[in-house]
Amino acid sequence: MYIRDIIMTKRFGKTLSAEQIRHFIEGYSAGDIPDYQAAALVMAIAIHGMTPEELSVWTDSMLHSGSVLDLSSIPGTKVDKHSTGGVGDKISICLAPMVAACGVPVPMISGRGLGHTGGTLDKLEAIPGFNVRLSTEKFIRLVGSIGLCLIGQTKDLAPADKKLYSLRDVTGTVESIPLIASSIMSKKLAEGIDGLVLDVKVGRGAFMKTEKEARKLAETLIEIGVRAQKKVSAFITNMDEVLGNEVGNALETKEALDVLHGKGPKDVTELTLKLGAEMLILGGKADGEEAARKILEKAIESGSAIEKMRTLIDAQGGDSSVIDQPDLLPQASHKISILSPESGTIHSVDPLKIAHAAMMVGAGRERSEDSIDPAVGITIIKKRMDKVTKDEELAILHHNGGSSVEKAKETVKAAYTISDDSPERCPLIIDIIKGD
Ligand code: URA
Repeated sequence: MYIRDIIMTKRFGKTLSAEQIRHFIEGYSAGDIPDYQAAALVMAIAIHGMTPEELSVWTDSMLHSGSVLDLSSIPGTKVDKHSTGGVGDKISICLAPMVAACGVPVPMISGRGLGHTGGTLDKLEAIPGFNVRLSTEKFIRLVGSIGLCLIGQTKDLAPADKKLYSLRDVTGTVESIPLIASSIMSKKLAEGIDGLVLDVKVGRGAFMKTEKEARKLAETLIEIGVRAQKKVSAFITNMDEVLGNEVGNALETKEALDVLHGKGPKDVTELTLKLGAEMLILGGKADGEEAARKILEKAIESGSAIEKMRTLIDAQGGDSSVIDQPDLLPQASHKISILSPESGTIHSVDPLKIAHAAMMVGAGRERSEDSIDPAVGITIIKKRMDKVTKDEELAILHHNGGSSVEKAKETVKAAYTISDDSPERCPLIIDIIKGD
């Protein structure tokens, strides 16, 4: 089989055979196919797309390019959640222990922040000592014994995706729905899950800028999951606004702990409960949203959700005293108040600008090898629809010095649009698509 023929098939918009796809993924993973030929093929896929059958084989080949975890020895339906990434999205940190406290095992393999989106691993590592680099054996053991574990991607999980993602990153082929969907699902299916709840974000702070694109991505993700015989649901949620009030690793971890203590911001709590309810339904612990929600609310009220978080932190080597003393989380040495230049109503707070400002003070990374400062970030005091008077505090910039602080401050200020009239209300959850 010639790689040139495989490239030409897709170049002319024809359908690749299962043999052609497997030959390519195996050959590329093994290092037998050079990057220039792989780049030509992914570009042709980015232009012409893939049929559902092609996509299913493509994902399956990527999934089997490494090992697939076997969680069958652990009783219960194992359910994970994946977000396509946003600004202030700390949901996994409160959701995983809450759902595990309700009896659904959560095996969660997460990523680091890259570009404007934050990463769960970076946020967890703000907890002193928390280790996200556990072996797969320990990962499986903890999911079995305490009902959850949160780690980073290991070398042997979907290695073809790691190679292809790096290639896509430098060849302008990241933004392709079949390539994004297969990349996400190959990693998630490698976890050995039975069910998956997806949070597909749409808006200025998300990968998908329009509802149409987000819906297409959600449907594609579901189709792959259903073909792999998993229970899958996808939420389409708004990312035109920062989720919650905190952006920055330690700040976001503290906010997630607040949710588990029952005093989190309304939007983060609501999205956690909605996604959690769906996880309980897929996990067979409730037969409808109302019943599931009651179980989750009880886990917060009884303290079992926060206690599960304490158990998780202890099990992964972290200092669980942060649960009762969140001030033990890293704190920046300086705080600057950003004041409103005028009176009026907040029309919008651009999440992308907030994320860029957070990156300027060191909260995020431009390249995967960059280091981050866990303590820095931004607290959003005034959000969309809030009234504000001139010189009232809009936000707080937490920083540890550096040459970009002034620029970060200006960027936070520029993120705010204030006017006399009230903006339209927009829903946090736009739609829920179920995969059955
Ligand atoms: N996240 C992934 O894991 N893969 C993509 O291609 C895009 C986002």
